[in-house]
Amino acid sequence: MEFKTLTGDLITSPCLVLGIFEDELKGDAKPQSDLVQQLDRAGNGWLTSLFNQGDITGELEQTLLLQKVPGIASERILLVGCGKTTKFKLYNARKAITAAIQALKKHRIPAATWTLHQHLPQDLSKDLAQDKKIYNWVWENLLRIRDLNYRFERFKSEAKPPKRPLTEITFWNDIAAQDATLKAIQHGQATANGVQLTKDLANLPGNICTPTYLAEQAQTLATEIPKLQVNILEKPELEKLGMGAFLGVAQGSRQDPKLILMEYRNADSATKPVVLVGKGITFDSGGVSLKPGDAMDEMKFDMSGAASVFGTIKACSDLQLPINLIGIVPATENMPGDNAIKPGDILTSMSGTTIEVLNTDAEGRLILCDALTYSAKFNPDVVIDIATLTGACVVALGHHPSGLLTNDDDLAAKLMEASNNSGDRLWQLPLWEDYSPQMKSNFADIANIGERMGGGAITAASFLAHFTKKLRWAHLDIAGTAWLSGAKKGATGRPVPLLTYYLLQRCNLN
Ligand code: BES
Ligand code: MN
Ligand code: ZN
Repeated sequence: MEFKTLTGDLITSPCLVLGIFEDELKGDAKPQSDLVQQLDRAGNGWLTSLFNQGDITGELEQTLLLQKVPGIASERILLVGCGKTTKFKLYNARKAITAAIQALKKHRIPAATWTLHQHLPQDLSKDLAQDKKIYNWVWENLLRIRDLNYRFERFKSEAKPPKRPLTEITFWNDIAAQDATLKAIQHGQATANGVQLTKDLANLPGNICTPTYLAEQAQTLATEIPKLQVNILEKPELEKLGMGAFLGVAQGSRQDPKLILMEYRNADSATKPVVLVGKGITFDSGGVSLKPGDAMDEMKFDMSGAASVFGTIKACSDLQLPINLIGIVPATENMPGDNAIKPGDILTSMSGTTIEVLNTDAEGRLILCDALTYSAKFNPDVVIDIATLTGACVVALGHHPSGLLTNDDDLAAKLMEASNNSGDRLWQLPLWEDYSPQMKSNFADIANIGERMGGGAITAASFLAHFTKKLRWAHLDIAGTAWLSGAKKGATGRPVPLLTYYLLQRCNLN
């Protein structure tokens, strides 16, 4: 999909997308936005007469497609209800964008001139300079448009691509907004490419997307990205490293585990890298502590953290960010094979800490603890793990923000800044020591689950914190945000926008 910008006079467009507010259409009130006024004058009041007719009131998410409006060179105008001006905040603005794209798709309009980004939501990036607000809002508009235009039809024997797909959006701006808009398009496009890769990987079924498949995909990525080096550590090497926790999870499956190492180096060797660790459970049956059957298919998404590491590396390499970025993906299935670990088994992690496995379904933390221990070898500046770790995080936060837990206040502030600006939100949960005693074990150093005292997302993070004491580390629990259920079932590509925004921020580029 292509994005362009246009400033100055509006020349002809296949479709002009125009936001309409409820309060500007009430009674004889004059349209408030310059753009609507301008178009109204060009058509000698044609638009005003249409508004008076009452077919569109500007109510949120209303859309009306107009053809061949008098005095206007564009073939079509799509009016999009944005609700009341006083209530135009991010929540409504996002709804208006979605309604507009859905209408463009429904009417099979292949190219459109976009103006919705000119209406900045009142609660957007408070206290930031105008330029930065424009950048953030164009970035989010673009990512939402690409998101709504995504399709996954690899396994449909009769794929039905749309007859006239939406392939081009032109952001129409004032000249003053041009630089920020161009930058947002460049950054947003690279990020959306990363999101797309993440969705493509995460949407794959478990019988295709095995640990071996993920390792091959990493190697393919390395052939596309010259600055990316990929190394795959196989089972014997993992044994030599003493990764007993990771290997313990893998032993119930016929699929060999892989530790996928991806090194994107585009800064001098003295620059400490950012390390991303992604949970790569290609299917989570729960193991011997078997999951209930309901929606178990969704556990193919349990490698979404891994997929987001792939996507973020792709986005950063598209942007040629001058950073060193390392991806670590422990990849395995969690299956109840006859050699599987059992409740009560004790594993020795790479760090030497022994772990009593009280529930084999708490497998994410077992593979991550060894990957996090391994990450220290890269002498990282910061380590961020991304994992569909706990159902408890979904209970706590629902499907809107990912959970953030960290041992470093500065890293928390930076990630929250990216969260507020990127439209890919986080919510911080406490990582107090108070939660740690819940994981006491009578037989090993720690247990892999806490006593039933609530706070499951936090006890899981506390388990990981045990292995990251010497690191500046953050954990993103994406159990509620990595995919959608129900009719729209599918991967979201989150938190690639957040992570890419954070890395751009580190380079002072946004
Ligand atoms: N992959 C799941 C977490 C999950 C559950 C993600 C639902 C998305 C939706 C994880 O491995 C898991 O099973 N966690 C258990 C932990 C429990 C046994 C302490 C959970 O959340 O139930
Ligand atoms: Mn599990
Ligand atoms: Zn899992």
